[in-house]
Amino acid sequence: MKLLVIGRGGREHAFVWKLAQSNKITRLYAAPGSPGMAQYAECVDISDSDLNGLADFAQREGIDISVIGPEAPLADGIVDIFTERGLVVFGPTQAAAQIEADKDFALELMHKYDIPTGAYETFVDAETARERLREWQHPLYLKVSGLAAGKGAIYCETLQDSYKTVDEVMVQRAFGASGDKLVAMELLEGEEASIFGFSDGKNIVCVVPSQDHKTIGEGDVGLNTGGMGAYAPAPVVTPELFDDIVQRIMKRTVHALSQEDRPYKGILYGGIIVTADGPKVIEFNCRMGDPETQVVLPLIKTDFVDIIEAVCNGSVADLDIELDNRAATCVVMASGGYPEAYDTGFPISGIDRAEAPGDVIVFHAGTGRKDGQLVTNGGRVIGVTAIGDTIKSSIDRAYGAVGKIDFDNAYCRRDIGHRALTNV
Ligand code: AMP
Ligand code: GLY
Repeated sequence: MKLLVIGRGGREHAFVWKLAQSNKITRLYAAPGSPGMAQYAECVDISDSDLNGLADFAQREGIDISVIGPEAPLADGIVDIFTERGLVVFGPTQAAAQIEADKDFALELMHKYDIPTGAYETFVDAETARERLREWQHPLYLKVSGLAAGKGAIYCETLQDSYKTVDEVMVQRAFGASGDKLVAMELLEGEEASIFGFSDGKNIVCVVPSQDHKTIGEGDVGLNTGGMGAYAPAPVVTPELFDDIVQRIMKRTVHALSQEDRPYKGILYGGIIVTADGPKVIEFNCRMGDPETQVVLPLIKTDFVDIIEAVCNGSVADLDIELDNRAATCVVMASGGYPEAYDTGFPISGIDRAEAPGDVIVFHAGTGRKDGQLVTNGGRVIGVTAIGDTIKSSIDRAYGAVGKIDFDNAYCRRDIGHRALTNV
């Protein structure tokens, strides 16, 4: 089979790494890919926003399945475009991807189908928003309804903070059209977990729960980032809680989307908070999480092509995913300054020494080549994933590997996995 992976981050590197282990694959392409992916796939210089260009390529090359990594092309309807052209594609349609691309839609759906989440209210103009927010208990979260690259959820401690956010989003339009609708959401308290399920529109199979570390600072302080590290399994999700999440959240959501004539095919990502009152959804995403993918895929033993085919041809009910019962930790090494301004172009050394087949894998998130040399080329530069018999050993092994890799201004959090250690 010929597969094409669309995207260029650490998540897509993990996809390509996992697919390259399948003996069903004869050719593997990545668009646009990365220097990391080039180890296993032929990188094609087409942007992940050039939807027709990607479809042209898939047709020309006779690609059997195209696998979409990021949310933006899904929200823009890449699956609909590929399907119209008779191409097989792994991911939800534009209508189903609204579960991430429109938070107002997602919350309305959850409330309609009794899927556990928080109270919410949606505003379409600043004046009504200010008036209504006076009735809301603070702190709360204000969220732009559209896509915002992980920056669209704003914590508002007081009514004054809410007013300021309403002004930024609805008057100054800091998020453009993504802020056309602003959603107030009740603050949910508890530990977070990411749950990924593979759905064919009727059934869903969920895999090992993971946990991300959103903020730049140790102890979970400072600005939000795309994610500074992850680990799996997340002990906060006990086996009982996992079953509950699968039944009352993941399965119910697949059923709800099917009822609404938006059958969901692809990866459904439940962003969960384990509250005193049980697990609740803070958001859904229409794709896998990054960096969580970098710890979840290495713990899946089943051929990734088998999983993708089951989703595409509607046989998830028969899908049995075999998991590795060890643990994985990923530490992100970022450019100093990220998530604010940072410099790029610094040579990266030591990846060869850090990698250990089967135990330590280095995924590229933002690297490039300059005169043949591997250099930094993004905020999050690499994800260093290690497998161990326990979370503790995977954490120690990941930091051991991080210590062997070097580039100017490298920054990583030193406390990835800290919650797992207090939860065990
Ligand atoms: P999001 O952009 O929706 O992924 O939200 C970013 C982060 O904001 C999440 O990872 C949570 O830490 C936090 N968050 C979002 N919504 C809520 C909520 N309703 N209650 C508590 N925390 C939230
Ligand atoms: N790691 C969070 C996300 O991918 O949205």
